[in-house]
Amino acid sequence: MKLLEGKVALITGATRGIGKGIAEIFAQQGAKVAFTYAGSVEKAKELETALSSVTQIKGYQSDASDFEAAQKLVDEVMAEFGKIDILVNNAGITKDNLLMRMSKDDWDTIIKVNLDSVFNLTKAVIKPMMKAKSGSIINMTSVVGVKGNAGQANYAASKAGVIGFTKSIALELGSRNIRCNAIAPGFIETEMTAALDEKTVQGWRDGIPLKRGGQPEDVANACVFLGSEMSSYISGQVLNVDGGMLT
Ligand SMILES: NC(=O)c1ccc[n+]([C@@H]2O[C@H](COP(=O)([O-])OP(=O)(O)OC[C@H]3O[C@@H](n4cnc5c(N)ncnc54)[C@H](OP(=O)(O)O)[C@@H]3O)[C@@H](O)[C@H]2O)c1
Repeated sequence: MKLLEGKVALITGATRGIGKGIAEIFAQQGAKVAFTYAGSVEKAKELETALSSVTQIKGYQSDASDFEAAQKLVDEVMAEFGKIDILVNNAGITKDNLLMRMSKDDWDTIIKVNLDSVFNLTKAVIKPMMKAKSGSIINMTSVVGVKGNAGQANYAASKAGVIGFTKSIALELGSRNIRCNAIAPGFIETEMTAALDEKTVQGWRDGIPLKRGGQPEDVANACVFLGSEMSSYISGQVLNVDGGMLT
């Protein structure tokens, strides 16, 4: 049985890493997929081509941190796909530095891209979801948003903000049958981490109870659960996908 058969998902930031993994697994599980990206036009085309034999899929170049662009995007997705059942607010970036050296610009950029984006997209999708009396919103936070991390005060604050936002939306929109949950990945091995020194990465793996880094599909499978009817009585939660790291 395909867990997302007949559903339409909008996923932000799906040209790489976790977002790409979510798009692939959502397509395999029967969802139609609208996805966004910031600048990777070629990678977006590759993903469209790769999955077009599996499902209806379309990529949109749209800056999630831009309020007006988010509204326009949702209007376009509604015109193309007719509905949005699942929103995955995945797009996110880092600009790490110790607070002593962190510029105001690095603070503002991270809050705008990681937190404003979640507000922008959620605000845009709730109208069609309220009309449909159904919806699942999944926000990508991080273990760093739960625990904090030296050198990532901007990122941790943005991700902690996502958790507060998630819980509030779950409370506001539960009566409309709209669920809102967050996923907190730990150390997920993506193209970004592949570029790091192997010894450093092995050290991180050794510190995780399950003794490995996560894969994008580990996070994507949690998104399938939260997007599907399997989780129809779950809202306002933060699910750590971290191999036991925060335990
Ligand atoms: N990787 C980890 O270990 C980890 C751990 C905890 C949480 N997370 C969270 O998981 C999410 C995905 O992380 P990742 O490592 O997979 O990231 P990634 O590989 O760097 O990919 C980021 C994606 O977001 C898109 N994007 C960036 N800024 C955007 C914007 N303003 N508007 C629209 N799209 C934008 C990028 O598009 P372009 O390709 O066009 O730039 C790309 O598709 C993030 O929210 C991150 O904070 C990751």
